[in-house]
Amino acid sequence: MKKTTCLAGICLAGSLLTGCSDNNDFKPATGMDGMDIYANACSHCHGVNGSGKFGFLLKLTGSGSNTEEIVHKIRNGGHIMPAFPNIDTQHAGLVAAYIKTL
Ligand code: HEC
Repeated sequence: MKKTTCLAGICLAGSLLTGCSDNNDFKPATGMDGMDIYANACSHCHGVNGSGKFGFLLKLTGSGSNTEEIVHKIRNGGHIMPAFPNIDTQHAGLVAAYIKTL
């Protein structure tokens, strides 16, 4: 129950930052690399450097997901995480590669 409450809080904070939308419309600008996209689209939920929020929650460092799974996650979203349909597979691949370096 406690975890659910925390996640809802993050979701709300995320919605406020991203404009109250389930579908995040962030679109990478020309020349953005994986780190730039991560900083703009992901860090407010997953923390700078993938360190997560509140310690372990939403931590991405050492994620067991492979690059393909991360790309899928970005493009399709999760149970709570919004989908990023405007991040094309090429850019999603850059973000995934960046996450794997964290
Ligand atoms: C609004 C908050 C939010 C944003 C923005 C967000 N995420 Fe997530 N993310 C979550 C939540 C919550 C989960 C876990 C539950 C789920 O799957 O929905 C998650 C799970 C993940 C996972 C799976 C965790 C694992 O260990 O494999 C990956 C990978 C991921 N996110 C990557 C990203 C990337 C890359 C971005 C930026 C393009 C991003 N997220 C943006 C909230 C967010």
